[in-house]
Amino acid sequence: MLFTDHAKAYRAAILRFAPDREPRHSAIFEEDGLLVVGPNANSVQVVQAVGPYHDLKDKFPGVVIQHLPGRIIAPGFVDMHIHYAQTNVIGSPAEGLLPWLENYTFPEEKRFESPEYSAQEASFFIAELLRNGVTTALAFATSHTESVHALFTEALHQRMRLITGLCLMDRNAPAGVLNRAAPVGASKGGFDATEQSLLDTETLIQKWHGKGRLGYAITPRFAPSCSDAQLRGAGELAAQYPDVWIQSHVAENKDEIKWARELFPASTSYLATYADFGLMRQRAIYAHCIHFDDDDRALMRASGAAAAVSPTSNLFLGSGFFDYTGADRVGFQYGLASDVGGGTSFSPFHTMLGAYYVGREGQTKAGLSLSPQHLWWQHTAGAAQALGLDSQKGGPAVGNLLPGCEADFVVLNPQATPLLARRTERAASLDELLFAMIVLGDDRLIEKTVISQTV
Ligand code: GUN
Ligand code: ZN
Repeated sequence: MLFTDHAKAYRAAILRFAPDREPRHSAIFEEDGLLVVGPNANSVQVVQAVGPYHDLKDKFPGVVIQHLPGRIIAPGFVDMHIHYAQTNVIGSPAEGLLPWLENYTFPEEKRFESPEYSAQEASFFIAELLRNGVTTALAFATSHTESVHALFTEALHQRMRLITGLCLMDRNAPAGVLNRAAPVGASKGGFDATEQSLLDTETLIQKWHGKGRLGYAITPRFAPSCSDAQLRGAGELAAQYPDVWIQSHVAENKDEIKWARELFPASTSYLATYADFGLMRQRAIYAHCIHFDDDDRALMRASGAAAAVSPTSNLFLGSGFFDYTGADRVGFQYGLASDVGGGTSFSPFHTMLGAYYVGREGQTKAGLSLSPQHLWWQHTAGAAQALGLDSQKGGPAVGNLLPGCEADFVVLNPQATPLLARRTERAASLDELLFAMIVLGDDRLIEKTVISQTV
């Protein structure tokens, strides 16, 4: 009865993930599949049916089927941590995180004080994500409200599912990248930078959270850049607005950890600092999480927070290797992230390959440490689950192509380059096919990115 007016169907190979299976082996692949999309009760385009073409083809009379021979339809990728203001610093070499921030990142982020510059960068950034098949992202903006408005505005325009927030940083950085006090003479003036940053956060939550497909993330940059008062205020807002996200960085680099421990000696670990200020809960996403002990892992698990594993960044900045074995042993949630511009690529294929290298580094037993299905899951259904975007509480679901999921997907062309064509043609199993695309793929493999529309 649906929907035939607004429904569409695609015939191609289709990749999706079984939610009730172990992520390492959860991929379902239809060689000849049919994906039917149409509006739900809220007029949002979702998956209506998916499965073998021959089982479904007669069930949707009147729905036009677009045939995509040789193509693979897969869920749009979910990037759990990326900085839109760092597009222009990708590939800036430094001895490590702290000099990289000081010499490249902060000078670039200063420029986002300008609404025009922010708008121009937001437009490039969203286009680049989509070109690379990323349909959902949790992104850092800068400490300027202008940058937040610009990114939300562009994402709304493109109907992209995007979560961002004002970067909270009221100390230990140059003036142009710190939060600003209310200008003298402002009608509600008199607030210092810390108070103003928290007021701005609340105003931005009210303006943007839940608008279209947008979400707000309370965004303390990392503990060393925030005063106690700012972290406390952020924690209070996190309690007041339980369905907004929280994003920050933790345990990325040894010098950073030493610094954080000096600044917050009362906390039992760097990660525990965030818990002490009420910043660990479900929907709290911490980038990196490399140098953890089992108490930290247990805290992640108990709080429901999730790690945004950022392998290309960690390899590029020499930060270290995320410990997959430790994470699985204790059992906390994680998913993949590009962390551009510490990360070296917008491409989920490069990120998945980086994660494979990182997983091998930590490998203790014989055998492949991370299966290609598991890598792919970490950048789609697994990342969505870690973000709470898997509809478990009745909310929207992304990162998969099960009935009810928002219709965000990519069309992959495994023939996109001569080498890809040659290698994928010889793939003797699903794992071989996925591995070939992870190892050889980049933006050329993404023939099309389709975003769920409203009708
Ligand atoms: N820690 C604090 N800020 C940053 C940042 O911009 N990038 C990375 N990789 N780590 C951080
Ligand atoms: Zn980051």
